[in-house]
Amino acid sequence: MHHLPLALYLCLSVFTHLSSAYTWPSPQYDALEGLLYEGRKSDGSSLSSIVHPCRKRTGTLASIAAEWLRFAFHDMATHNVNNGTGGLDGSLVYELDRPENFGLGFNQTASDFENYPNKLVSRADIISIGAIFAVATCGGPIIPFRGGRIDAYSAGNFGTPQPQDDLGSLTTSFQNQGFNTAEMIKLVACGHTMGGVRSSDFPELVPAGPDPNVPNIANFDTTTQFDNAVVTEYLSGYTKNVLVVTSNKTMASDLRVFQSDGNSTMRSLTSASTFASECQSIFARMLDTVPAGVTLTDEITLLPVKVNGVQLSIEEQKLVFKASLRLIQPINATANAKRTVTMLWCDKYGSAAACKGATRSSLPVNTLSDDPNISPVTLNLGYYFINYNFVVPIDSAASISKFWFQVDEHNGTAATTYNNGGSGYVLPQDQIFFVPKLSHVDNVQNMTYTQVYTNRDGSAYTHVYTIVAAVRNDTTPSRVYVNGFDSSVHGYPYYVNVTVDLALNSSLSSGVPGYNLYSGIVNDSGYQLTLDLHATSGGATYTQDFVATTFLDNTPYVAPSTPSNAAVKSSGSRSSFAHVFGWTPVACSLSLIVALTFWR
Ligand code: HEM
Ligand SMILES: *[C@@H]1O[C@H](CO)[C@@H](O)[C@H](O)[C@H]1NC(C)=O
Ligand SMILES: *[C@@H]1O[C@H](CO)[C@@H](O)[C@H](O)[C@H]1NC(C)=O
Ligand SMILES: *[C@@H]1O[C@H](CO)[C@@H](O)[C@H](O)[C@H]1NC(C)=O
Ligand SMILES: *[C@@H]1O[C@H](CO)[C@@H](O)[C@H](O)[C@H]1NC(C)=O
Ligand SMILES: *[C@@H]1O[C@H](CO)[C@@H](O)[C@H](O)[C@H]1NC(C)=O
Ligand SMILES: *[C@@H]1O[C@H](CO)[C@@H](O)[C@H](O)[C@H]1NC(C)=O
Ligand SMILES: *[C@@H]1O[C@H](CO)[C@@H](O)[C@H](O)[C@H]1NC(C)=O
Ligand SMILES: *[C@@H]1O[C@H](CO)[C@@H](O)[C@H](O)[C@H]1NC(C)=O
Ligand SMILES: *[C@@H]1O[C@H](CO)[C@@H](O)[C@H](O)[C@H]1NC(C)=O
Ligand SMILES: *[C@@H]1O[C@H](CO)[C@@H](O)[C@H](O)[C@H]1NC(C)=O
Ligand SMILES: *[C@@H]1O[C@H](CO)[C@@H](O)[C@H](O)[C@H]1NC(C)=O
Repeated sequence: MHHLPLALYLCLSVFTHLSSAYTWPSPQYDALEGLLYEGRKSDGSSLSSIVHPCRKRTGTLASIAAEWLRFAFHDMATHNVNNGTGGLDGSLVYELDRPENFGLGFNQTASDFENYPNKLVSRADIISIGAIFAVATCGGPIIPFRGGRIDAYSAGNFGTPQPQDDLGSLTTSFQNQGFNTAEMIKLVACGHTMGGVRSSDFPELVPAGPDPNVPNIANFDTTTQFDNAVVTEYLSGYTKNVLVVTSNKTMASDLRVFQSDGNSTMRSLTSASTFASECQSIFARMLDTVPAGVTLTDEITLLPVKVNGVQLSIEEQKLVFKASLRLIQPINATANAKRTVTMLWCDKYGSAAACKGATRSSLPVNTLSDDPNISPVTLNLGYYFINYNFVVPIDSAASISKFWFQVDEHNGTAATTYNNGGSGYVLPQDQIFFVPKLSHVDNVQNMTYTQVYTNRDGSAYTHVYTIVAAVRNDTTPSRVYVNGFDSSVHGYPYYVNVTVDLALNSSLSSGVPGYNLYSGIVNDSGYQLTLDLHATSGGATYTQDFVATTFLDNTPYVAPSTPSNAAVKSSGSRSSFAHVFGWTPVACSLSLIVALTFWR
């Protein structure tokens, strides 16, 4: 064993690996993980809060969770295992005029979901995440989620089962979807534990209530929660499920399904925990039933340590770098008030480039704890998030090559370093980036919809975005352009995918030496435009991928405080921002760790 210098030994002892195979940047994983575990998209608007906590639609008895779960089943149910067509692909929004998709709940769910899809989170992924939220928020199991579904932009085949179908047709329909008889029974029992049948949709099954404007709903069981009451009430003979007890046996599809194997599958579900685990696995299969040719991602698991909101930008004539570190905190434990989190980084250019000799550091500008209710999935796992938000000025002559974090609990154990599994969080390029603070959006034109649903305001706008990008002057680009994508278009008519060239705009001044500003106009009729910005120079194309236009990140610039932690204390200064960041002599720098790894 080599004798290591003490400083290097200490570096090694605080070096930790993330357990998962995940490395940053993984834009699709980050986007899917963010929506599932934070419940919201980048502008803060929350998908999960529409359904959580196990909500009913305002002014009605309808369970939003039940509507979302049924939506996923009906989107999937046209899958055909023999030729690979159909499956969870979002085609349901084009099939709502079909008798097999009767129900106001579908139209309302489509309206709930329309603001959430984007380039990396498909409409069909939203439908899956919606079903997972629905089950989790009403007390059901956490269904494992994989992403990467690909959307259909037109109606698909018919084939969803209907209550008047005979047992042979029902069995064949499920067989075509890829489910045998026992699996069919589980799917129906697990589905029909929430919600019920509406008088407005099935007047032959449910009589209208006193108010003609409020549908009467006959619930499948006596509880609104996701539980096995649907099974136990059926087996006891006291069920009120109209699809079992209706006097017109032609419509008693649940009775036909449930007793199709002599009730044996239903009897196997009498334990609450068996019901939960069987529903968990059959729903995972339901959500992962996709058209042939679609490859789903690995399971999207909660990242215990996540870097969010990374951007280099220009604000108030300064080059700034923003990032936040998201840590999980068990709900049942008290967060450590003494914890300090430090961001460290290295220059990209100049004498200290690529961590040769010194690193810079900063404390967060603020620390924000999320409400444990942001996502029912994270809540059920027993965690909430604490976000450490960093905003630091950057000298454009030095720029930034990579960054990482140190978390010190001040409890007698050495600080933990989070450095992306050893490589640091490396910024791919600083040649081109979006400048939200100089960009803006105008809403023009007023298209009025004929139908008004829960989350639709009755009008839509064409958004005219003025996009400003900063480009490093040594790039001397032959072309600067932006690709804009938006699939959150109300009514789901199409998606927007446009490419627009940006031109050098001398009337705009960056105030930052070495950066020029380019601008152009992107028109969009959707609600979640994301941008890929490109600069072509010689044979190279520099890209900033998947930037949200929710600038809508209007967090005002705040100068961060100087680190108080001795390990990262400033020991000198050489720039106009010296009051802000430290110039640390041989901190536990990345280059050291990397060098050491090779040396051993
Ligand atoms: C034999 C196959 C099935 C038939 C014939 C059937 C039929 C029905 C009918 C007639 C309704 C009432 C809808 C309304 O009034 O708006 C309903 C509701 C529902 N179904 Fe099914 N269903 C079947 C399978 C499934 C499966 C496999 C699931 C799994 C997710 C499911 C989930 C639901 C849910 C959650 C509701 C309640 C919706 C609400 O309250 O808004 N169904 N089903
Ligand atoms: C696939 O099978 C379904 C159901 O049998 C049928 O409706 C559809 O036309 C078939 N599609 C192709 C491309 O063969
Ligand atoms: C739902 O939307 C479809 C398609 O626009 C329409 O045909 C149907 O009448 C709507 N259903 C309800 C209950 O509004
Ligand atoms: C029972 O339901 C079926 C299917 O909806 C319908 O055709 C039939 O007329 C109904 N029978 C009675 C007696 O209402
Ligand atoms: C299944 O159970 C239900 C409810 O107890 C009962 O009405 C029905 O007769 C049973 N069917 C069979 C085939 O055992
Ligand atoms: C917090 O919850 C975890 C997981 O359920 C459990 O192992 C732990 O003992 C709990 N801690 C406290 C302080 O209650
Ligand atoms: C300090 O906190 C860390 C992180 O919670 C923990 O792993 C470590 O065991 C703690 N050390 C002591 C001495 O309590
Ligand atoms: C735009 O739509 C809103 C809401 O429907 C309506 O009140 C307003 O008059 C419309 N404006 C124009 C210019 O059409
Ligand atoms: C959007 O346009 C880009 C550039 O033309 C293209 O590469 C991409 O495949 C398009 N995406 C979709 C979903 O059509
Ligand atoms: C330059 O930017 C300003 C402000 O965004 C804009 O009004 C102007 O139209 C742009 N000029 C050109 C030539 O694009
Ligand atoms: C880029 O900007 C820097 C700082 O203003 C300047 O020193 C340099 O000459 C410029 N380079 C080019 C190629 O314009
Ligand atoms: C974008 O919208 C503006 C304002 O309505 C219009 O002047 C311009 O021609 C549109 N550009 C494109 C490419 O459609």
